[in-house]
Amino acid sequence: MATSEELHKRRVGAVARGVGSTIAAYVDRAGGGTITDVDGREWIDFAAGIAVTTVGNSAPRVVEAVRAQVERFTHTCFMVAPYESYVAVCEQLNALTPGGFEKRSALFNSGAEAVENAVKIARHATGRPAVVVFDHAYHGRTNLTMALTAKNMPYKHRFGPFAGEVYRVPMSYPLRDGGLDGATAAARSIEMIEKQVGAENVAALLIEPIQGEGGFVVPAEGFLPALREWATAAGVVFVADEIQTGFCRTGDWFACAHEGVEPDLVTLAKGIAGGLPLAAVTGRAELMDAVHVGGLGGTYGGNPIACAAALAAMETMRELDLAAAARRIGAVMGARLRAIADRDPRVAEVRGRGAMLAVEIVVPGTLTPDPAATAAISAACHAAGLLTLTCGTYGNVLRFLPPLVISDDELARGLDILDAAFG
Ligand SMILES: Cc1ncc(COP(=O)(O)O)c(C=O)c1O
Repeated sequence: MATSEELHKRRVGAVARGVGSTIAAYVDRAGGGTITDVDGREWIDFAAGIAVTTVGNSAPRVVEAVRAQVERFTHTCFMVAPYESYVAVCEQLNALTPGGFEKRSALFNSGAEAVENAVKIARHATGRPAVVVFDHAYHGRTNLTMALTAKNMPYKHRFGPFAGEVYRVPMSYPLRDGGLDGATAAARSIEMIEKQVGAENVAALLIEPIQGEGGFVVPAEGFLPALREWATAAGVVFVADEIQTGFCRTGDWFACAHEGVEPDLVTLAKGIAGGLPLAAVTGRAELMDAVHVGGLGGTYGGNPIACAAALAAMETMRELDLAAAARRIGAVMGARLRAIADRDPRVAEVRGRGAMLAVEIVVPGTLTPDPAATAAISAACHAAGLLTLTCGTYGNVLRFLPPLVISDDELARGLDILDAAFG
């Protein structure tokens, strides 16, 4: 087998430079809470393929379901010749997502595609053009979703012009907005929408209940409910982007549930199918069904192999109670991170929920972001056998997203490496 070094050389000559990788090691196998490269080096996995392998890599039920489906048929296109697993995934999403109302779902391939379709549905149902998004938001890399995403480098730089009718308002970011309470932060955003856009022009308000790429920003309590209430009164479709927060990651099936918020539409992807590409929009039947027949779809959306994997992944989440596992991981990891923060003045904040935790790194005694120190700590983790990711508008957030099936021993070893990387 080729070594990681050999594969990296081949990659440079074959793969476009614009596609980056966190580590230069090439994977041979992965499972539970570890990844092993072709040279036999092992990393404890605190990334889960960016919050995807919630049920672990090659989870037994997923493997079995995929194998069985591949042998039956690989693709017919649901828009041509439908099949049961697509319907079953939609039934489960309708039942699992917050809100006791009648729902419908549609399946797609990627998170960005789900977000694009949520915007299409909201515009179609309301007849309004505008979409409101937030500072630090991340919603994808396609043309519309680049416009919805906040950060220029690397996601948007020189890729414009971007789609129109997208308006950005302030997020509740307690560390950086002077600790505004949720209601006050929401009032600030709502005033901006009403004055600068006009509520009657807004089709959708799109928000991550906890921001992902933007820095694991957890809004102050009350922020999401206040926006939800305003959207209802203004006839605006409230869209929760649960692509990173969904499927047990934050200790509940969906992060909106923590404050009892019921979105009109939810976008879903990542953890949904144990690593196979699948995404969804789930929401109020009257909005979803407003769209004419043929208005939604795509060749591969709801591919039968991905649907089989999703049914198996959701079954695994129930069977192993992975929401409880996320809460347990969060308790263990949170305690270790707070201990690091107590001794290291570079840690301005430990935040997140369940198994979606992060630390924000600053120049001690200030709120000045320190992306260089963040990168150095992350690199030290990689060198010592722990796969970590960074994020944040300022590149100064270390985030932790272990698979929810990580063992206690793997978690403890990973946290020891992290602890040592802080020095
Ligand atoms: C909140 C959120 N929305 C949308 C996306 C885009 O998903 P995808 O990369 O599958 O297009 C992501 C991916 O990181 C995300 O975290």
